[in-house]
Amino acid sequence: MTATAAQARAELEAKTPKSREIAGDRSEILNSGLAANLEMPHAIFIERGDGSRVFDADDNEYIDTSVGFGLHMLGHNHPLINEAIKTRTDKGWMFGIHTTAQLGLATLLHEASPCAERVVFCNTGSEATMYAFRAARGFTGREKIALFDGFYHGAHDYGMWMTDPSSPRSAPTKLPMGHGIPSAIDDLMLLLPYQDASAFDLVRKHADELAMVFVEGVQSSNPQHCGEFLAELAEVCKSCGVLFGLDEVITGFRLALGGAQELFSVTPDIATYGKVLGGGLPIGAVTGRADLMNVFTGLAAERGVFSGGTFSGNPLTMAAGQAAVGHLKDNPEIYNRCNSEGDRLARSVNEFCSDRQIPVQVLNVGSMFHMFFQRQPINSMRDVQGKNAEAESAFYLHTLNSGVLVPGTQRAFLSAAHSTQDVDKLIDVFTDSLADVAAEGLFG
Ligand SMILES: Cc1ncc(COP(=O)(O)O)c(C=O)c1O
Repeated sequence: MTATAAQARAELEAKTPKSREIAGDRSEILNSGLAANLEMPHAIFIERGDGSRVFDADDNEYIDTSVGFGLHMLGHNHPLINEAIKTRTDKGWMFGIHTTAQLGLATLLHEASPCAERVVFCNTGSEATMYAFRAARGFTGREKIALFDGFYHGAHDYGMWMTDPSSPRSAPTKLPMGHGIPSAIDDLMLLLPYQDASAFDLVRKHADELAMVFVEGVQSSNPQHCGEFLAELAEVCKSCGVLFGLDEVITGFRLALGGAQELFSVTPDIATYGKVLGGGLPIGAVTGRADLMNVFTGLAAERGVFSGGTFSGNPLTMAAGQAAVGHLKDNPEIYNRCNSEGDRLARSVNEFCSDRQIPVQVLNVGSMFHMFFQRQPINSMRDVQGKNAEAESAFYLHTLNSGVLVPGTQRAFLSAAHSTQDVDKLIDVFTDSLADVAAEGLFG
């Protein structure tokens, strides 16, 4: 049955009174920055999660395609992870001194990640990329790091840059993402065009000043197979003596046990991890070639760099991570299933859109996907046009009202807990919602 966006909004509003109350209560105290869905009537507060589902404060059930920004590869509240956390809390969970658990998770990471001869733990993906930049600078004695347009590597000052849309595609320049980013950093970062051969020329041209070229295993802003590009990039970096770094914060343990490195057969000098590695608790990790990672052995080492953090390698996270990664290692079929279900989801929605001439496309690599409200092909973020805000907000109202939660960032994921029936329902809800938006004439 077709419905308008206004009807979906009214229905959602009627069934989420507690969330509305909480939203009202917290508005003064808690700064925004919560990942909200586009144009919801008000923030929806989640009370609990189980498998592929989350339940809001009013006990409405949603199929969750956020799964904690992608980190619950096994779904919410997985019994093995839950058990590991409980067992750990019975014995105390934070000591500030090494525990054997660190070695356990480091060994799993070392076995899974082709480049991981050494491992340093920290607490977030942002910390991991910040340390990777520092290690590259310390090791090479050069200061510049090259990143690609459309990147996200975390919230530190070195990552808060975006492409100036008026700059040439083959030599993009950057703008700070918001205020508070020191302009001095501009000079320390070089922006490269993504999936574009002119990036290779820029790397060669700046080789003498570049410590590292750093790139996501798959850009979450633009998830598509990029193996050939990464392989050529790795070669170019090698040939001109620049370190090649891979950000596997999302792709690590998601696309395959060995992440993008395994999927695309590329081995970087250094790689960063987060998300899935921590089993749902805060984590980051830097891994890489032993000689390069040796900079982390302390300030006394030749070219030593500082790393540290109160909670780095804390036993609770290590226990959750070991449970999650251990299970993924023992059940490799999870990856085939999640990846093929992700492909089926994207293919089904894309076929529907092209049959109905609906200007929407889903990009995906395996179980990570992102929906774009435009017909024109996307090679990099430079190809993403302005949002069709009305159609998008209507679409997300319909999906939420139909019991499907898509994260506000639109970076969406399947997990091992998403059953075939869940994916069937996702396809139905996405296509029905698109049909509703089209019937209301919002695609223009
Ligand atoms: C590729 C990538 N790198 C780094 C980060 C930062 O990780 P965190 O949010 O844990 O700091 C993210 C976060 O989404 C990410 O997607």
